[in-house]
Amino acid sequence: QELKLSLEQIEKGGYEHFMLKEIFEQPKSIHDTMRGRLILNEGVIKMAGIWDHIEKFKNANRIIIIACGTSWHAGLIGEYLIEEYARVPVEVEYASEFRYRNPIITDKDVVIAISQSGETADTMAALKLAKEKGAFIYGICNVVDSSIARITDAGSYTHAGPEIGVASTKAFTAQLTILTLIAFKLGKHNGNLGNADFMSLIAELDAIPKKIEEVLSSTHELVQNIAKDFVGATNFLYLGRGYNYPAALEGALKLKEISYIHAEGYPAAEMKHGPIALIDENMPIVIIAPKKGHYDKIVSNVQEIKARKGKVIAVVNKGDTQVSAMADYVIEIPETSECFSPIVASVPLQLLAYYIAVYRGANVDQPRNLAKSVTVE
Ligand code: G6P
Repeated sequence: QELKLSLEQIEKGGYEHFMLKEIFEQPKSIHDTMRGRLILNEGVIKMAGIWDHIEKFKNANRIIIIACGTSWHAGLIGEYLIEEYARVPVEVEYASEFRYRNPIITDKDVVIAISQSGETADTMAALKLAKEKGAFIYGICNVVDSSIARITDAGSYTHAGPEIGVASTKAFTAQLTILTLIAFKLGKHNGNLGNADFMSLIAELDAIPKKIEEVLSSTHELVQNIAKDFVGATNFLYLGRGYNYPAALEGALKLKEISYIHAEGYPAAEMKHGPIALIDENMPIVIIAPKKGHYDKIVSNVQEIKARKGKVIAVVNKGDTQVSAMADYVIEIPETSECFSPIVASVPLQLLAYYIAVYRGANVDQPRNLAKSVTVE
């Protein structure tokens, strides 16, 4: 028992929990996921899984992304990325819904499954169904040689390293990295992403690990202090628009998974179709408001929240003034193109969920009722 404990201590590398260690590993895990793929000085993205089957992707009528949980959130961001840069229609579905609704699938479809563990039962079953119907099936998995990695026609591994905390953090940002690479590679190949834009986007992608490092060091203490004020909260709303709508969903999921506080993510504009009824001085609202990406619209959402006395925790870019002036708490992140903002904005939201859960005395690495990998229905 003692030996086991000290081994675990060593594995945690000085961090109190695996989750915190994994949050802090993200500059490295994102870098590792790009390594050998993003070749900046040659101006190319090398992905054998895509390249060997480029005709399948080129001739696809559409791409269907299937996943569960956090991986499904990555899939939603994948839709924004692939549709914007490669202009291929994308649908994103919960694997559990897809498998039971007799979906229309043909041999002109490419189905991408996203799964950290590569063992999720619903995702596996959905893939088998898609394969039977003749689709080309592609895997984005973290665990090498997992069941999903083995049944897919091709795939790209995320190189996030082992993820022990049940709440997914570094696997999520690694999935986003792969989806970004795929979107840029397809867009470059099919001519929808011009060379100049491609070059500036990949240069920016290459700099993301540095920006995550910056975010970790500049927000860690601040977020810890913010968390202290919300230990007694019973509800949370997370809002974002565009690429940051799925990031809001993921922020809310992190909080509910590990702190057991009820949290909902919403597209900010949908607020007026329901959640606004819940807003009063007791409702904390995390709002993701980077400069690039519907900023003015977000400003008016924040005005509406403040008119109802909601407590605003805003994730904004450095030097922001408008949202910051209204917000109760401000977390600054560096500016990026909109497509990278979910990667960067997710980091302080992971920290926020983590510290709220820690201060509530919750078992962060092994939250009640949850499993790292759901291998049964
Ligand atoms: C479980 C885990 C989540 C994960 C989901 C999908 O619910 O607790 O963290 O996102 O399964 O898992 P997968 O391994 O397929 O990504």
